[in-house]
Amino acid sequence: MSVGEDLARIRINTGISVIVPTYREAENIPHLLVELDRLRREYDVTLEVLFMDDDSRDGSVEAVAASGCDWARIIVRTGDRGLSRAVIDGFRAARHPVLICMDCDLSHPVDAIPQMILGLASGQQFAIGSRYVPGGSTDDDWGLFRWLNSVVATLLARPLTKVRDPMSGFFALRKADFDAAQGLNPVGYKIALELIVKCRMENVGEVPIEFSDRRFGESKLTLKEQLKYIQHLRRLYLFRFANAMYLLQFLAVGATGAVVNLAVLSGLQLAGLAAWICLAGGIGVSLVTNFLLNRRFTFSYARRGHAGRQFLGFLGASLVGLTVNYAVALGLSHKVLTGAYGLQVSAMIGIAAGMVFNFLGNRYIVFRKRYIRD
Ligand code: GDD
Repeated sequence: MSVGEDLARIRINTGISVIVPTYREAENIPHLLVELDRLRREYDVTLEVLFMDDDSRDGSVEAVAASGCDWARIIVRTGDRGLSRAVIDGFRAARHPVLICMDCDLSHPVDAIPQMILGLASGQQFAIGSRYVPGGSTDDDWGLFRWLNSVVATLLARPLTKVRDPMSGFFALRKADFDAAQGLNPVGYKIALELIVKCRMENVGEVPIEFSDRRFGESKLTLKEQLKYIQHLRRLYLFRFANAMYLLQFLAVGATGAVVNLAVLSGLQLAGLAAWICLAGGIGVSLVTNFLLNRRFTFSYARRGHAGRQFLGFLGASLVGLTVNYAVALGLSHKVLTGAYGLQVSAMIGIAAGMVFNFLGNRYIVFRKRYIRD
């Protein structure tokens, strides 16, 4: 049975909503509608197209009206702009049980849509147009910089998903799965990655596509958008590997604390102050910077909490950590590690034990999760 016959079979109870985020795409809209109309007629499929436009004011509204396609609408958004947000709003407004997201600039081949829908019909949860599976490719006009950019971005996402091209903005999923998704909070461009990770999509099909460079207009992928990707990745890593990420950030802040401690201590020493003042100054300042960095970054979800109370809690957790450190090191060096370098090894184990207690105290008591919004 051909793809066309299969699609015709599943069409009976499947309408398709194609969501197209747009910003200044007036020139491309008519061309995309011609392509989608061809698909509509070829497969006799029930289709709606929603252009989710961020108030482009470039004739996009007029272009949709002039197309005469009563199955296409444009929704002009004025608040909460951005590609991913536009797509989410489009998915919410969609009327059909199958959702497709694609770019407006004809870089995504309409002809891959039937295969994506067949993938869903055969049980896949998510189908994505992929440049990095056999048969997929990227336009030769992509410069080295953009290619490298895409490869690095994809590699950074690899621990989050096995999907080979999660950067793609061309994908299909069921409306029911989207409606059930919770806590979607993407920043920037990578809405497919957000859905795959947050909805814990396991059964993802990748349909090879030839990604062609846009014919009209220009890409809106600015450096600012690329920096947002780092922010987005951090959120997704926190979602997927929460405790490992918190611990890693906590340790990184601890390392900056050691540097601050030494710098302050050396400065005070240069100023000719007594050794106990230099030591106390180093410890005091590094405690404060560690607290501020942990509150701002490591446990940023809790930064609306009462700072004074949190600082006291932070000091308390540090004290518990130090006590555990001392007790473990002392106990081990007295009773267990009595040979050569026993004291040093005991001290290191004590430091590790103290740090774990310190971390747990901060994570679950001082900066507990009641403030979380993401
Ligand atoms: N509503 C809205 N708001 N739409 C936007 C915005 C925005 O802020 N920024 C971009 N878009 C629309 C564009 O008009 C286009 O239809 C689509 O989103 C993709 O934007 P481009 O600027 O053309 O993206 P690109 O070609 O650089 O990136 C492509 O490649 C990526 C993979 O490397 C897109 O296909 C991405 O979806 C894909 O992830």
